[in-house]
Amino acid sequence: MDLPRRRFLYSALALGLGASVRPRVLPAAVRKGLTPLPIPPLLEGEWRDGKRHFRLNAQAGEREFMPGKATPTWGFNGDYLGPTLRMQRGDTVSIEVLNRLPETTTVHWHGMILPARMDGGPHQPIAPGARWRSEYRVIQPAATLFYHAHTHGLTGPQVYRGLAGLLYIDDAESAALDLPSDYGVDDIPLVIQDRDFTDDGRFRYLEFMPERMTGKHGRSLLVNGALSPGLQARSDLLRLRLVNASNARFYRLAFSDGRRFRVIASDGGLLPEAAAVSELVMAPAERYEILVDLSDRKPVVLRDLGGAGNAGFGPMGMMGLDGGFDVLHIDPSAAGRSPRRPKQRLGGPDPARVEASADARALVLEMGMMGRGMMRGGGMMGGMRRGMMGDPGGMMGGMMRINGRTFDMQRVDFTVPANSEEVWLLGNDSPMAHPFHVHNTQFRLLTRNGRPPAAWERGYKDTVIVHPGEKLRIRVPTGPYADARHPYMFHCHILEHEDGGMMGQFTVV
Ligand code: C2O
Ligand code: CU
Ligand code: CU
Repeated sequence: MDLPRRRFLYSALALGLGASVRPRVLPAAVRKGLTPLPIPPLLEGEWRDGKRHFRLNAQAGEREFMPGKATPTWGFNGDYLGPTLRMQRGDTVSIEVLNRLPETTTVHWHGMILPARMDGGPHQPIAPGARWRSEYRVIQPAATLFYHAHTHGLTGPQVYRGLAGLLYIDDAESAALDLPSDYGVDDIPLVIQDRDFTDDGRFRYLEFMPERMTGKHGRSLLVNGALSPGLQARSDLLRLRLVNASNARFYRLAFSDGRRFRVIASDGGLLPEAAAVSELVMAPAERYEILVDLSDRKPVVLRDLGGAGNAGFGPMGMMGLDGGFDVLHIDPSAAGRSPRRPKQRLGGPDPARVEASADARALVLEMGMMGRGMMRGGGMMGGMRRGMMGDPGGMMGGMMRINGRTFDMQRVDFTVPANSEEVWLLGNDSPMAHPFHVHNTQFRLLTRNGRPPAAWERGYKDTVIVHPGEKLRIRVPTGPYADARHPYMFHCHILEHEDGGMMGQFTVV
């Protein structure tokens, strides 16, 4: 469906992006009423004592997404979102987080393999005014990761206000591939988030019970914190790092002229080889890197075609939330010729080897209106009635489950041996698709309903879509960090489902 898009004129205000890099040329796109795409500031840290040090301040601010309307926001080192932290494989990093917010928060390094007490999940709360230091060695390949708040029961609202940022890992292998890698020039991050605004410009979050069930979907789209962004391409070969940092929305991304593009990396790094596609579905927390050839110098729009993921799920259609957005207008008319000649083979994990091994465990995602919850929790109506009574934290209590159980901070659901690999069978006994995420690992999708995965799903993943009724097998490396006292999380990355309890925890021993 065609959503009303907010167009606004170029103005100093619209460009008042504070912490963001300003475009060096006035984009032609601007003349059409677009906002120049902001690029999050890049932090490479500071070397001290053999460690790369970063500082993040979680702080409140405001941003004029729409001219003349100040939206109260949260961000890291700025008003909305945070800087891109760039590190090298092999580095020891030390990140100090200061919480200047009026509320407890956490910062989780999504996709990172690291000791559990450094993970920044719900067990590492940072009280208002307090500091938290996370130190770990980067032991995994080059990838586009991200960081975000992961506070017990409050991940959804905190990320929605802006507590998220990018984290890049570089390594020698990826540097040798001749990929576009000039940050913000030919290697461009696109943090995609949908939002709803009130008439006076405030963020609108969870006002109706069905939104708790479907997850928060917005009618406007922000890319790197800007509505209706345009990019004056400076190179005719762009690497776009697509990050779905939305609370709940799935996107079906394609170019307006149907042109094909090459997917080169997924959540955990480079694919075995580039996969040419004309559209790509992305669930919350998934990342894909793509190469787009603009050598025809023709303007093109990256679009969300809508209809992805849960668009067909009852309440979504009812609320007019099935999607369809312009994501980014690209004008390559003045682009220079890229000297980069990326290869087809990228060196990611070899997909051919699927070792036969028994499934170690099965995890089934469930919602209140189906399966066991129907009997026990009074089904959808019971849950909705409970929800309307208030009780924000517990209102989804019993509605969102994995293997029949709602998340409990005090309960460790299982343990896995360190330095090992397990095959997990993922199921979905609910009417919605869920992006299933595991901390401290980059796993491989072995099969989807018994079939080998699509070309772009053959690399390292930390989040994978499980559609209703599907059976997925994933091979999960357990990592080197044994610690019986601190658990890691696994959960649905629709943040309202996570907050509602579709989450569990495991320890590595
Ligand atoms: Cu990105 Cu446990 O989350
Ligand atoms: Cu995570
Ligand atoms: Cu879910």
